[in-house]
Amino acid sequence: MMSKGVWGLFAAATLSLGLSSAAMAEMGPIEARQACMKANAAMMKVMVPIIKGQAAYDKAAIDDAITKTQAACAGWANWWGEDTKPGGAVKTEAKLEVWTDAKGFEAASMEYVKAEQAVKDAADEAAFKAAFPGLGKSCQSCHETYRAAD
Ligand code: HEC
Repeated sequence: MMSKGVWGLFAAATLSLGLSSAAMAEMGPIEARQACMKANAAMMKVMVPIIKGQAAYDKAAIDDAITKTQAACAGWANWWGEDTKPGGAVKTEAKLEVWTDAKGFEAASMEYVKAEQAVKDAADEAAFKAAFPGLGKSCQSCHETYRAAD
């Protein structure tokens, strides 16, 4: 189980948006965490072209992408039950390490939440470009250990 720390950060993001979790409740936990990850990928599609100089810096678009991701990921703490391990009825790319190394997975989750917040807090283009690598690294380092496909 996630600590109150991680859960609190996600819950705070949801509350501040005034979202209901009804839509998420319709999805099973594996589908829900994959939808969260798809929102992460969509967020990267906004940020990476800015980093590469292929799109103009746009704080509103960045913030919007982060807000959508935080909303899609708000139920995070509830999505890693024992019944969602690989090998069940619903296909998952999560590796067994999520459960055998729960502390490490939680630390990786926390690193990501903080890195995402740092990008959201970046007030201008220079700050965004300084904060972004930490976020990219947080995706990559979690996937290296806890996701099968990477
Ligand atoms: C704390 C760990 C962790 C972090 C941080 C993380 N991911 Fe993931 N990601 C996973 C796991 C585990 C899966 C497999 C989920 C499943 O299939 O049940 C996954 C799956 C995905 C998928 C495939 C989703 C699908 O369609 O099935 C994408 C895309 C993805 N992640 C993108 C990202 C991006 C981009 C970031 C950073 C902005 C990120 N992830 C951060 C653990 C993480």
